[in-house]
Amino acid sequence: MIEIAPSVIAADLADLASAARIAEAGGADLLHVDVMDGHFVPNLTIGPPVVAALARHTRLPLDVHLMVTHPDRLLGAYLDAGAARVAVHFEAAVHLDRTLAAVRAAGARAGVALNPATPVELLADVLHACDFVLLMSVNPGFSGQSFLPHVLDKARRLTAMIAARRAAVTLELDGGVALGNIGEIRRAGVTTFVAGSSVYAAADPVAAIQGLRARAEEAVAS
Ligand code: DX5
Ligand code: ZN
Repeated sequence: MIEIAPSVIAADLADLASAARIAEAGGADLLHVDVMDGHFVPNLTIGPPVVAALARHTRLPLDVHLMVTHPDRLLGAYLDAGAARVAVHFEAAVHLDRTLAAVRAAGARAGVALNPATPVELLADVLHACDFVLLMSVNPGFSGQSFLPHVLDKARRLTAMIAARRAAVTLELDGGVALGNIGEIRRAGVTTFVAGSSVYAAADPVAAIQGLRARAEEAVAS
């Protein structure tokens, strides 16, 4: 199954309801929400009240990506705000096992996000505790950056690790996803695709979502 998750930070931030409508019209599966705290990453974005407001304007599950230094302190507020999935950064979480358990205890899907320089092998003892891994294919902080191709090899290695352990974990990838690379990303084992500027900066964002899905599906059709 392919999941397309448009990232609303690439949309008009003064009109998030329209961003959600566009995602729904394009048949998106999730709405990706980038939470940046000005410490873990050099940018400051969306707080819990904004997520709660967005949740009232969409039926899409909110895929909350916490780029924050102290995920434990903020987790509860984002879960209460309506997050369906929460990814915390491996590099930021000191008690990752506990943090992931708290996400699951709230009924949400728990994810671990990895920066481009963090090896996937570090996940060996946490795969059982998470539902998905979010591989960053740009250094987090901004939309519109170029895809870092070495992350394809990380995706392949992680796909092999998940298969070897028979873990029920899906792969999400975030950063620089576009029509020209989504096929090879899919072939590396990724099934959930975050897309910011390739959707919201497109002339026709609805068609852009549909095009990404079609290209990802074609990539593995025999
Ligand atoms: C980057 C964010 C991404 C970003 C993706 O820090 O985590 O979700 O919005 O935007 P694009 O697809 O433009 O790279
Ligand atoms: Zn993100």
